Amino acid sequence: MLLVVDCCIRGGVSATRKYYETYLKTAAEHDVSVIKLAELDIEPLNAETLRKRDELCEKKEFDHETFRMARQFRDADEILIAAPFWDLSFPSLLKVYLEQVSVCGLTFRYEDDGSCVGCCRAKRLLYFSTCGGYFGERHLGFEYVKAFAAMLGIKECVPYIIEGMDIDPAWRQDILDRTVRRLRHGC
Ligand SMILES: Cc1cc2nc3c(=O)[nH]c(=O)nc-3n(C[C@H](O)[C@H](O)[C@H](O)COP(=O)(O)O)c2cc1C
Repeated sequence: MLLVVDCCIRGGVSATRKYYETYLKTAAEHDVSVIKLAELDIEPLNAETLRKRDELCEKKEFDHETFRMARQFRDADEILIAAPFWDLSFPSLLKVYLEQVSVCGLTFRYEDDGSCVGCCRAKRLLYFSTCGGYFGERHLGFEYVKAFAAMLGIKECVPYIIEGMDIDPAWRQDILDRTVRRLRHGC
């Protein structure tokens, strides 16, 4: 199953969403599960939810509803994350989601020598993003997700990033259309 984590806050008008949806059509993926974070009721961890979660982890009750998203992330064959470039990385809602799937004992664990071992099945994560300007040497959103994925055992991260979307509003649609056309024609 390909798990799509959609953090395109602007919904139907999002260029990032249009970009990854075109990819899905060209890739002709069959078994796809999409979660749209903006439509979910997820909150940052707080003292109370963290305490409850730690209790469940201690008892190894990983079948609990609390861990539904973490189990889904762990079991996916491939993962696609789509998030626009916001404030040098990505919308905070994606971080809220990543908090939910980062569970010691479920998506990663520690060996006796203190080293961290990822427990996720996916070998590859695709990261889709569109940026208003140019991100420079490093896309911090992609770099963060890449490091996060490595911690969870996902070795390969592939960036699908479009830059310069907002330099001139008149170019926006054109830049997107050209990139999408290239995807469709496989170049
Ligand atoms: C809250 C917010 C923060 C943004 N921060 C940045 C930024 O730091 N750098 C940048 O180049 N563009 C920034 N942008 C512009 C978006 O990256 C750009 O418009 C992108 O194409 C939006 O994607 P979407 O159509 O999928 O929502 C920001 C836009 C918003 C709404």
